[in-house]
Amino acid sequence: MTQDLLGAARRVRNNAYAPYSGFKVGAAVQTASGQVYPGCNVENVAYPEGTCAEAGAVAAMVAAGETKIVGVAVIADSPNPITPCGGCRQKLAEFGSADMVVTMATMGGDIIKTTLGELLPGAFTRTHMDLD
Ligand code: THU
Repeated sequence: MTQDLLGAARRVRNNAYAPYSGFKVGAAVQTASGQVYPGCNVENVAYPEGTCAEAGAVAAMVAAGETKIVGVAVIADSPNPITPCGGCRQKLAEFGSADMVVTMATMGGDIIKTTLGELLPGAFTRTHMDLD
């Protein structure tokens, strides 16, 4: 599963639109159904309007009618595997559980795995609003 996810993230990274940072990122989320949804970062000349690769993958998943993430992969051409930014951790927490595996990789082949719970301890969730 990790190889498929990572492969999807690696492939979509080629399409990243990152003319301002020059830092292309690819991500992919896998859902309970087994489907994989890739996303890449999309920057904007109005810098804060740019979006992360993980946000693109989440949006593609929701657009396809799915809402349960069971695995995530993210890849960049960086010295060390990159971790999802804080905002993306929260976006992933909306659709994935704390024990969900997050795979982070470099283009050079270094791979680190952790869980969403490790990345975002004490996440603000629906339970805090008594929604469940
Ligand atoms: N970026 C991502 O797409 N995902 C991350 O996890 C970290 C950062 C993007 C945002 C921006 O386009 C570029 O990387 C540099 O920050």
